[in-house]
Amino acid sequence: KRLAILASGSGSNAEKIMEHFQTSAKAEVALVASNKADAYVLERAKKFEVPTFTFTRKEMDAGILLEKLQDENIDFVILAGFLLKIPVELTRAFPDRMVNIHPALLPKYGGKGMYGHFVHEAVKAAGEKETGITIHLVNENYDEGKIIFQAHTALNELDTPDSIAAKVHELEHKYFPKVIEGLLG
Ligand code: GRF
Repeated sequence: KRLAILASGSGSNAEKIMEHFQTSAKAEVALVASNKADAYVLERAKKFEVPTFTFTRKEMDAGILLEKLQDENIDFVILAGFLLKIPVELTRAFPDRMVNIHPALLPKYGGKGMYGHFVHEAVKAAGEKETGITIHLVNENYDEGKIIFQAHTALNELDTPDSIAAKVHELEHKYFPKVIEGLLG
């Protein structure tokens, strides 16, 4: 199967996924696409010799990303720190074949404005005793797709948004590639 990763930022998850599928018989990462021309994820893709594609929000909304995914015969789309809202045509083109990772335990700390550091700040401000990751299918209502997998990590009063982020990243890196592999059937 041919996988595409969409990412807007650093791409540490994308890197783990590329690493994992280098030796998988099931699938290969065939494309890394980003809405940010200077996203570090693009450097990581080059290192793995994975083709890259960049696009603007306007272009995505006009269907150019969907066209690219179809031209590349992509079977499965992975959102790994992708910050734009996916157009409905795109989710419809990949029913049950698009997955996202959210850095908290949905349905808590999801929805508008809940991305990146804002999530960890909100978790800290609420004094949560734990947080975690959620891997879910992407449907037309972004964070409401079917939950596939969650993993938890304990927090204490000494945790800061930065240390929470580090704990969450550790879980993401550990589980995201394997969960994707499992979804590929
Ligand atoms: C991850 O925490 C992911 O859950 C979130 O954005 C972050 C991306 O990190 N939605 P990276 O770019 O993979 O390092």
